[in-house]
Amino acid sequence: MTLLDLKGIETGYGKIPVLHSVDLRVDENEMVALIGPNGAGKTSLAKAAFGLLPAMRGSISFDGEDLTGATTARRIHLGMAMAPQVENTFPELTVDDNLLTSFSTLAPEDSAAAVENAYALFPRLAERRRQSARTLSGGERQMLAFACASGTKPRFLLLDEPTTGLAPTIVHSLVERIVEFKDGGASILWIIEENPLEVLPYVDRVYVLSNGTVKAETKAEDLLSEEALRTLFFGLEE
Ligand SMILES: Nc1ncnc2c1ncn2[C@@H]1O[C@H](COP(=O)(O)OP(=O)(O)O)[C@@H](O)[C@H]1O
Ligand SMILES: [Mg+2]
Repeated sequence: MTLLDLKGIETGYGKIPVLHSVDLRVDENEMVALIGPNGAGKTSLAKAAFGLLPAMRGSISFDGEDLTGATTARRIHLGMAMAPQVENTFPELTVDDNLLTSFSTLAPEDSAAAVENAYALFPRLAERRRQSARTLSGGERQMLAFACASGTKPRFLLLDEPTTGLAPTIVHSLVERIVEFKDGGASILWIIEENPLEVLPYVDRVYVLSNGTVKAETKAEDLLSEEALRTLFFGLEE
């Protein structure tokens, strides 16, 4: 069953569109990757899907409900969540308070349990629970952003480059946590720019975005080699 469905989406900043007639869907319990070079429009697509950028044309629906003009709050109510690429934590709040703020829609006992669950998944965050998010490393901040977005158990999660710029061991453990979350029944749209081969083995389908347009949609298994990826990206540069 289709959960997120974008049809003919055009969006941008001011009057200038940066996405052109984009069609993309994510099915129930599916892991979909969105890959493409810097500036392709990946973050803009995520923002449009989450209601942070208005759709100039086209339609967006989630679980059959038309959300084209709906607020981000409505999307969260329906079970969507997002871990943004940047500005994804409150820098002056402690790790504890970042989690509690993200879980404020839960009942108090559920919120406390969600915080403890986040610390069980990420022991590094537990060690830093009283530190402000500003003092975390890049990897720890991505762990916190993912823990905040996933801790309310959304049905659908948008992840905007959670592993870009991180050390390989951190990438590995974060990827494991994300895959476990998907295996619990959620759907994920995962934006990847760096090291796609770390993530593609866990992905079902891939969209390739370039210059604001979907250039290809393919099964992840067709892209599982350096050569296949090189051919794909070489094609984009022409
Ligand atoms: N806040 C903004 N105001 C104006 N243009 C923007 C803004 N954010 C992004 N853009 C432009 O939109 C295009 C797509 O950017 P973005 O969606 O961030 O791409 P990606 O995430 O694939 O790197 C780029 O040309 C970028 O310069
Ligand atoms: Mg981006």
